Amino acid sequence: MPDIAPTHIRHGSNIGQPLTRREGLLKVTGGARYAADNHPPGMLHAVMAVSSIAHGRVTSMDVAAARAHPGVVEVMTPANAPKLARHPDQVGEPFTFKLDLLQDDRVRYPNQPVAVVIAETLEAATEGAALLRPVYAAEPARVGLDASERFVPPSVGPGEEPDAGKGDVEAGLSLAANRLTATYETPAQYHNAMEPHAVVAQWDGDRLVVDTPSQAMTMAQARIAGLFGIDPGDIHIRSPFLGGGFGSKGGATSPQVLGIMAARLVGRPVKLVPRREQGFGPVGHRAPTRQTLRLGAGADGALTALDHHTLTASSTFDDFFEPSGGVSHTLYASPALATSYEAVRLDTGTPTFMRAPGEAPGSLALESAIDEMADACGMDPLEFRLKNYAEVEPMSGKPFSSKALRECYARGAERFGWAGRPRVPLQRRDDAGLLVGWGVGTATFPAIMFQAEARAELRADGRATVEIGAHDMGQGAWTALAQIAADGLGLGLAQVEFRMGSSDLPNGGMAGGSSTTATSGAALHQAGADVIAQLAEIAMNDERSPLFGAGNAGVIAREGRLLRRDDESRGESYADILARAGRAAIEGHGQAAADPAVQEHYATHAHGAVFAEVKVDPELGQMRVSRLVGAFAAGRIVNPKLVQSQYFGGMIWGISFALHEQAVMDPSSGRPMNANLADYHIPVNADVPSIEAILVEEHDEHVNALGIKGVGEIGITGTAGAIANAVWHATGVRVRKFPITLDRLLGA
Ligand code: MOS
Repeated sequence: MPDIAPTHIRHGSNIGQPLTRREGLLKVTGGARYAADNHPPGMLHAVMAVSSIAHGRVTSMDVAAARAHPGVVEVMTPANAPKLARHPDQVGEPFTFKLDLLQDDRVRYPNQPVAVVIAETLEAATEGAALLRPVYAAEPARVGLDASERFVPPSVGPGEEPDAGKGDVEAGLSLAANRLTATYETPAQYHNAMEPHAVVAQWDGDRLVVDTPSQAMTMAQARIAGLFGIDPGDIHIRSPFLGGGFGSKGGATSPQVLGIMAARLVGRPVKLVPRREQGFGPVGHRAPTRQTLRLGAGADGALTALDHHTLTASSTFDDFFEPSGGVSHTLYASPALATSYEAVRLDTGTPTFMRAPGEAPGSLALESAIDEMADACGMDPLEFRLKNYAEVEPMSGKPFSSKALRECYARGAERFGWAGRPRVPLQRRDDAGLLVGWGVGTATFPAIMFQAEARAELRADGRATVEIGAHDMGQGAWTALAQIAADGLGLGLAQVEFRMGSSDLPNGGMAGGSSTTATSGAALHQAGADVIAQLAEIAMNDERSPLFGAGNAGVIAREGRLLRRDDESRGESYADILARAGRAAIEGHGQAAADPAVQEHYATHAHGAVFAEVKVDPELGQMRVSRLVGAFAAGRIVNPKLVQSQYFGGMIWGISFALHEQAVMDPSSGRPMNANLADYHIPVNADVPSIEAILVEEHDEHVNALGIKGVGEIGITGTAGAIANAVWHATGVRVRKFPITLDRLLGA
């Protein structure tokens, strides 16, 4: 079809508007129905009993006592758990992990499910679970990065090569005027989404309805279908809202599947809501890392070599290796570059994707090392970063599809007031005598696209329905995607009914890798464009239409009307076109996926620069971030209010990474000692200072049809490093073990 509605033409002005979340009122008034809010008639409550050891076997449980407890209906253990069509250790699909579904008595990690008690009330199920008192044959727990034999992982992250390099790193180091070798440690972290992995499961024969939060409903459907030997199409997942996911809600996790098994066992709907401490085991985490960076730089401050080695961990039985080296492939120009990995196996739940997997710990180590190198070269850390600015992606040699990092540095530095920063540390105090330090970090995150489909239907009244099985885990997809959907049709938001968050809608792909707006958005836009193309075809071939014969000039779709491109005074409404054609509706379809040609020719990333001020009590070591300014460029901004909010969220994770968040593992038992939100520290309002996010304009003509890059995860990168570097600038102390706690600062 000639020049009617190529996907890069936008038909409306909803994109770019700073709209408030459309579901915001529902959420703050309690009207938003989360998974655990669903209470179908006859529903029972299930509570998991989880292991208190990290490694061994369950030798006995007092199932009789639990079963005899008033209100308890059934106790699900390996003795009576429903047989599965496929063993849960059998994984095939990408992004899928082995599960613990009561198929045997093994304990592979702390807080592993060992039984499920099903009762008429939550209280009865909780009490019944407490009566089980499992007895274990415990074996020694392997805890920490030195606890077992190292090996080179077969791949890292979602299938990346573990070793990569270019140039001669050793030669680059030997000819360097300045050299640095530094090792940084980051701890295990647990996702701790506000909403747990709750599930309400209802079986009707071999058909299943599941209310559960999901970042990837199609993936979860496939996994559940494989386990139960049923058709994915017979599984309806409803996931309209998520109370966060952070990477842990991509596939189906053990607690979610156990809830479904429990419903199967008792033949009634079952609700299972894991307790907070049960999130520290069976639903993934970020593995600890020990990263050694070796850098060389000439007397002029130009890098001559960059070597980034990561030691990390997976579970004893499954593979996920935190891909921390990736940032070093893309950020700084160095003629010699190498990244490599080793790993150990620990008695822990399997790690998984979590809030900028790889980029978050990798960027913290890299930005710290770059800062140390700048100091060794006697250079301002921002000047050093500009000196080593990568014009093309260092590892791949590809040009960037677009890169506005210079503007990010300039805008951020200006707003922060970076000029005049003393180069050496320990120079400034505030009126209260607190040490003041300033630091900078570079932010980067890949612009990723997965696959998605969408459907649009325009009806005779000029209104439309647009559908996609996309996911909103709090990032604002309900609003941003509706804006794109409406623009695709040349309609106002009020004319479009937008549906998402349910697996019976077209496959919306996955809410991961900061890809939702780009991927689902592209599919939605194309679905609208398909409708407009069909509508224009009808009008242009109809002698009674003012658009008759407009084919060569083309048409414009705007505010529910098609107009001639060469004479916008000539046009008519969608409703008139459909009425005359006797059509009740037009249906359009859209599909989106990463374009292999783009991938081949360009490096696609969002970029940013983060500036931090910290204040440190010189006697007590108490630290506070007092100011944060980030400037980010991420292509087309669909909704500036929501994008800013995403940057804030990422930057707050950065505060968390630098100063708060860590799982403390008991070296003897292997258990996480702080499996609650009182002791597992995350930033609260008092920890979040004045925070600003500048939206730097960027037009990326290559990355995808709408020029959209992701904004969800980039904020965590750069920020943690900026804060660590500011702590050094305030105190002169370089803490290389994260989070930077006051004992580490004072003891260093
Ligand atoms: Mo994210 S860790 O890509 O959900």
